[in-house]
Amino acid sequence: MESDLCTREDLVRRVKAPETTRLGRIATWGIAPSNAIVLILLGDLWLYLATAHDAQTESMTTTIHGAGVASLHSGEHRRAILQRRFNDRPLLVFWELTKACDLACRHCRADAQRNASLGELTTAEGYQMIDELSQFASPRPILILTGGDCLKRPDLLELIDYAKRASLPVALAPSVTPLLTPDTMREWRDHGVTTVSISLDGKDEQTHDGVRGVSGHFSATMTTLSALKDAGFTVQINTTIMAGNVEQLADIAAILVAQNIDIWEVFFLVATGRGTEVGATTPQQNEDVCHFLVDASRYGVTVRSVEGPFLRRVTQQRHEGVTGPRTGQLYERLRQRLLYVLGDPTHEPCVPSAAARDGNGIVFVSATGDVYPSGFLPHALGNVRESSLIALYRNAPLMVSIRDADFHGTCGRCSFKRLCGGSRSRAFATTGDALGSDPACVMVRTPVPSRTQ
Ligand SMILES: C[S@@+](CC[C@H](N)C(=O)[O-])C[C@H]1O[C@@H](n2cnc3c(N)ncnc32)[C@H](O)[C@@H]1O
Ligand code: SF4
Repeated sequence: MESDLCTREDLVRRVKAPETTRLGRIATWGIAPSNAIVLILLGDLWLYLATAHDAQTESMTTTIHGAGVASLHSGEHRRAILQRRFNDRPLLVFWELTKACDLACRHCRADAQRNASLGELTTAEGYQMIDELSQFASPRPILILTGGDCLKRPDLLELIDYAKRASLPVALAPSVTPLLTPDTMREWRDHGVTTVSISLDGKDEQTHDGVRGVSGHFSATMTTLSALKDAGFTVQINTTIMAGNVEQLADIAAILVAQNIDIWEVFFLVATGRGTEVGATTPQQNEDVCHFLVDASRYGVTVRSVEGPFLRRVTQQRHEGVTGPRTGQLYERLRQRLLYVLGDPTHEPCVPSAAARDGNGIVFVSATGDVYPSGFLPHALGNVRESSLIALYRNAPLMVSIRDADFHGTCGRCSFKRLCGGSRSRAFATTGDALGSDPACVMVRTPVPSRTQ
């Protein structure tokens, strides 16, 4: 789930030893076991050819499905290229296959229940949506099959196969339950899935089981994450930060490093669904967490945030050596603990900044076909049963305003509004205005009235 554009330094760090040929210097940059970007370095210009493994024939041949030239010197230029791409098509399409889930997490945005809701999209309707997604130009969006629990859909493998035949990269976000067995993992591998994410919300039983509502769940999660690694997946761990686990982040990072996890996606709580019942972190704590996450990305795990786009501001400020808002004592504690559990950093920071956020590079389709800017922003733009998903993504007025960074309040005035832009979901959840300010950011000094006031 990586962007194909990154900084020159990122590229230099990641490409495998370039070879000098008559064409220029040639290097490959693997973004997943099944696809890669071949880079031809011509002075300041990088010609990139995106290639993908052919899942249908299962052969090792690759097909070139995208090419372009980009000067990657300037962050602004890079962002302009990405913005043009996001205006046209999303990077990530989340499809909530079902609301059914055998867990009942305290913070669940989906209000997931044991049984599927009435009127969930059928297999045929899913195929229709996949057909539409395949009309997007290359590189096509990544389809993330999520929930609820995607394993509660009996047609999961058929949907994966259909999406792969339509040349859509597929990633899975299952819940850790007895349905997620080593056999299931083998089947997913056989059907061409390469990336899977699961959640870890605490460093120990007490905290994690408390969030997930099932005793023994921490140990099941640890077993599952190492089984996923053994099965050869790119493994992403999702952690939702709340008041109750924020002090444990350094220990969670240490677990991920020890398990050789590829990506850590850190969710900042949104007060939607059951998320309204859980204590969130304060803006100052969020600032501290962002600084900590930059530090934590220096141990070989790629770190990304969800509904915490201010991480991009902090990353940029740190990269450029610019002083931003002050850090507090939480950062000091987390920093010290990280050094204690992991020692000196082993890598350069790796916090990719694809600037995708709710509605800008991201779109979400609910179990019943409603289209939202994100799963945390339940404002229906339309429904795939009646409207074109492509048209809703490109033309729905809210989506256009989000992509134009046409925000209100502090987020609208902030000089980082294009890089960060605040969580549109949190703005909506707290104020009812999806274009309002994100009260979780420390730069938003004016208190935002709560939605219920
Ligand atoms: C929607 S879930 C889907 C996958 C699976 N059901 C799970 O929970 O692991 C994706 C991530 O969103 C997180 N999440 C759920 N509700 C949230 C909320 N209100 N705010 C922030 N993150 C939330 C979950 O903890 C999980 O890591
Ligand atoms: S957060 Fe995920 S695992 Fe937990 S109840 Fe909701 S859908 Fe299920």
